[in-house]
Amino acid sequence: MIFSKLLAVLGFFQLLSPTFAWPHDFNCPDRRGPRAIQARVPPLLNEALAANVWRPPPPGWYFKAWNMIYASNPQYAFFRNFQYDPTAVNPSQTNGQVHDLASFQIPNNDTVFTTYGVDTPHGNAAAVLNYAGTGILTGATSQYSLLAWGCDSNNVPYYASYSTDTAATNTPAGIDIFSVSDQGLDQATADALIAALKALPKAEIATLANALNKTIQDGGRNGQLRVNTCDDYCKSNQDLLGILG
Ligand SMILES: *[C@@H]1O[C@H](CO)[C@@H](O)[C@H](O)[C@H]1NC(C)=O
Ligand SMILES: *[C@@H]1O[C@H](CO)[C@@H](O)[C@H](O)[C@H]1NC(C)=O
Repeated sequence: MIFSKLLAVLGFFQLLSPTFAWPHDFNCPDRRGPRAIQARVPPLLNEALAANVWRPPPPGWYFKAWNMIYASNPQYAFFRNFQYDPTAVNPSQTNGQVHDLASFQIPNNDTVFTTYGVDTPHGNAAAVLNYAGTGILTGATSQYSLLAWGCDSNNVPYYASYSTDTAATNTPAGIDIFSVSDQGLDQATADALIAALKALPKAEIATLANALNKTIQDGGRNGQLRVNTCDDYCKSNQDLLGILG
């Protein structure tokens, strides 16, 4: 009885707020924090194809409300409160295509801009996705590889990913680190993660890891709903025209 009442209350909250989430994530691996970090070279840059102990996250783990905390790309220093809300195109297929939906603010302007595309999982390499922009970003493509994932010492999920350059938008290759907290990872986990990325045996990746810099999370979207759905106007990406230049 109490249980069904609890479920009804939770259901109500889910209807009320599409962003209702548990305060702590139950998907954290048993080993967490700095000593649990495992980083890999992007599989498609790894000619050695050596035996790899790197484990991909469980299906669906990636579908969380993320905040950008570090980026190697100096262009991202311009964005404020960058959030990333990937969801499954077909919710019953956690290994299928992904709505790649990000949103952000810019300096001195609280308008929330969105950017959308569709990610298609690479057939063979685990946790590698091919991005394709839509609308005015049609033709913009990039390949994302998860480099590391886990939870920090406070059970807060994080991941690091590498993306190849996007010629259509002049976006260079880069590494980004996201956390479900806009405060980011605890310092020891952040330091160990960045050190692990710098130590990867691939010069291009180590160089990008050296360029990682904290991005701006200034609370400018506090209290606002996450942007986790994208209508046809959003998919056109036309609001980006003013800022992509
Ligand atoms: C913020 O950006 C939007 C879209 O470019 C623009 O319409 C609006 O005037 C800007 N607001 C401020 C305060 O500059
Ligand atoms: C990080 O950003 C600061 C301020 O813009 C800049 O001076 C510094 O060079 C950047 N660090 C790296 C590693 O790019």
